[in-house]
Amino acid sequence: MTILITGGAGFIGSAFILEWVDEVKEKVVNLDKLTYAGNLDNLAGLSQDAHELVVGDIADRDIVTSLLAKHKPWAILNLAAESHVDRSIYAPASFMDTNVLGTFNLLEVARSYYETLSGYEKDKFRFLHVSTDEVFGSLSPCDPPFNEETPYRPNSPYSASKAAADHLVRAYFKTYNLPVITTNCSNNYGPRQFPEKFIPLLILNAAADKNLPVYGDGQQIRDWIFVADHCRALREVLFKGQPGETYCIGGNQEKTNLELVHEVCEIIDQKLPSPDGLSRTTRIAHVTDRPGHDRRYAIDDRKIREKLGFRPKWTFEAGLKATVEWYFDNPGWVERVQSGAYRKWVELHYGSKNKKGD
Ligand code: NAD
Ligand code: DAU
Repeated sequence: MTILITGGAGFIGSAFILEWVDEVKEKVVNLDKLTYAGNLDNLAGLSQDAHELVVGDIADRDIVTSLLAKHKPWAILNLAAESHVDRSIYAPASFMDTNVLGTFNLLEVARSYYETLSGYEKDKFRFLHVSTDEVFGSLSPCDPPFNEETPYRPNSPYSASKAAADHLVRAYFKTYNLPVITTNCSNNYGPRQFPEKFIPLLILNAAADKNLPVYGDGQQIRDWIFVADHCRALREVLFKGQPGETYCIGGNQEKTNLELVHEVCEIIDQKLPSPDGLSRTTRIAHVTDRPGHDRRYAIDDRKIREKLGFRPKWTFEAGLKATVEWYFDNPGWVERVQSGAYRKWVELHYGSKNKKGD
């Protein structure tokens, strides 16, 4: 019993693999291009029996075809993506290549593979596409939260590329009966998140007594979910979700960015008082706003609660503390990410090898 996961050396993918190996105990084949966001440190310690890494691009038809023929996975989980909104604003092309064309390629190859299956194997097969709440656009403070019926109104090149992929996934169910399921999750936080994203950036800057950059007025709202809760939701969807359906996943923890900064500062001030004795909140620096910055995201998760019995377990307070602890307890990971040494290892290890992993 094997599953194929894409993007498994990134933040959510690696958390998913670590938990899957621990709890479900089935083998994972992990197709990852190891962009700047892919970090093998995240999966250090897993045996080759439990986890097989294949360095490659989801847009590469030959690699995906040969992986499906070789491993005959009962599920494909697509997490590979360019995921950072700010990068998509400055350089959108790779977002189209991976998020749109890469997903299209996976769907095409999965469709051919699905046609070769029969009986139990065909009934069991699932293509789980991991998407985002950003496809729904931006809410005002009084709007009801997003749900599965909310129209798509993406505002950044990132969210537009994810929306395009979601539409393709839907079309492959309607047109070809490929048993796809899409999830739309809110903002994740937790261990091993690349420090371009807001929470790890705040933790590392605050710990180093650097400025804490807040875009615009800092009144934008995000609904934060601890990554372990998201991964558990994905397992529930994989095992119990209905093909052709979409599921919204959220943490029910809406915070303004400024509230969030204050909570991070409070934890870090307690753990490590700053040399000048001042609260880290004095380091808050309002900087130029993100173009097209979405004002508010929020999720109505009644469908996944009622249909699949999923509800998040982590409170924001507990999750944030655990996250700060993780960054403090793993200075080696942080140092290798900040210095770029984790990339050098990838070059050293894969530079002279066949990147297709065969
Ligand atoms: P991440 O940026 O940490 O990791 C992405 C991974 O995909 C990296 O390992 C990278 O090397 C790999 N990758 C990129 N392009 C690839 C390609 N062409 N072929 C193969 N691998 C490639 O992202 P993340 O935060 O872990 O997000 C994972 C997924 O979850 C994404 O699809 C994202 O849109 C979605 N999502 C993220 C969040 C969040 O808050 N982080 C919330 C909801 C949904
Ligand atoms: O909602 C789900 C999405 O959450 C995922 O689909 C994306 O992959 C993920 O990156 C995340 O997108 P955001 O843009 O919401 O996350 P980010 O961490 O970049 O920013 C969170 C908020 O903090 C956002 O309102 C912008 C703000 N911000 C961010 C950075 C990096 C700042 O104010 N200052 C910063 O330096």
